[in-house]
Amino acid sequence: MRVAVLGIGSVGRGVLRMLAEKPELGLVLTAVSDSSSASIDPSGLDPRDVLDRKNLTGRCGEPGLGAGDVLASDVYDVLVELTPTDARTGEPALTHLRTALARGHHVVTSNKGPIAADLAGLEALAAERGVAIRYEATVGGAIPVIHAIRDGLAGNRLGEITGVLNGTCNYILTRMDDEGLTYEQALAEARELGYAEADPSYDVLGIDAAIKLVILANTCWGLSTTLDDVAITGIDGLTADALRLAASQDCTIRLIGEASPTRGLKVAPRVIPRSHPLVIEGTLNAVMLSADMAGEITLMGKGAGSVETASAVIGDLIAIRERGSSGG
Ligand code: HSE
Repeated sequence: MRVAVLGIGSVGRGVLRMLAEKPELGLVLTAVSDSSSASIDPSGLDPRDVLDRKNLTGRCGEPGLGAGDVLASDVYDVLVELTPTDARTGEPALTHLRTALARGHHVVTSNKGPIAADLAGLEALAAERGVAIRYEATVGGAIPVIHAIRDGLAGNRLGEITGVLNGTCNYILTRMDDEGLTYEQALAEARELGYAEADPSYDVLGIDAAIKLVILANTCWGLSTTLDDVAITGIDGLTADALRLAASQDCTIRLIGEASPTRGLKVAPRVIPRSHPLVIEGTLNAVMLSADMAGEITLMGKGAGSVETASAVIGDLIAIRERGSSGG
């Protein structure tokens, strides 16, 4: 299967690395772009060469070429859209996804902006063109939560979603709690380790968790909620004192997202007992789903990270290859 990749940030590097290390997957890179260049070769590019060039020159290909050239080349079966997220408009990723779908290509993305902005519209376009759209990597990094909702829990009525949906915030809160770091020290660490968004205010203001909650709610209940429908409080105002006070009552603080079809969507820091299943460490994420047949399901795993998120992208690519247009 021929794959075109837009965006070589943390997730893009992870995907290229895995394409290089796992040739047995049969995923052939035929086009790639970053913000200032592109490289297109219908007979296949070596992902290692692309990464080396990016590391040496800061560019993956020829300057003057870009995402538009990759999209128009049509030398791919699946477009993998991994450019930075714009939480409000979803652009330019939304246009990239619509263009690829309209040209009859499957799409896989880790880009939360366009999926939160217009999942229903993108799915309608994919259905019209007989192709698939998959977005596992948008929520929970490596955790296969979208697969679980769509496949494993198919036929269940889902009642509530509760979760820790932002690895950066969870990492910051864990480090403040365990090591007594200040908020600023813990945030600096999370940035160094590549967990935070290009603009980390998305993480700490709760916007990233809210977008993921929107995607989960729309996936579970077929809604068209947007970021504006979420009541959001971030962790930026939290002090080490607040964590110490919680600790004195055998509790801690975590940024929790909650959604239900009747009570709406909310993201806020919550004081919870240390024994609660959502008290997880570091960049872990967890999603609790209540289902009428299955009962309560909790999924937990690495919510951020280059190769971890690449795992979700690659799972989607393989699902599309195995199921074709019904892979959406
Ligand atoms: N910045 C995000 C997080 C990355 O920290 O969870 C994964 O979406």
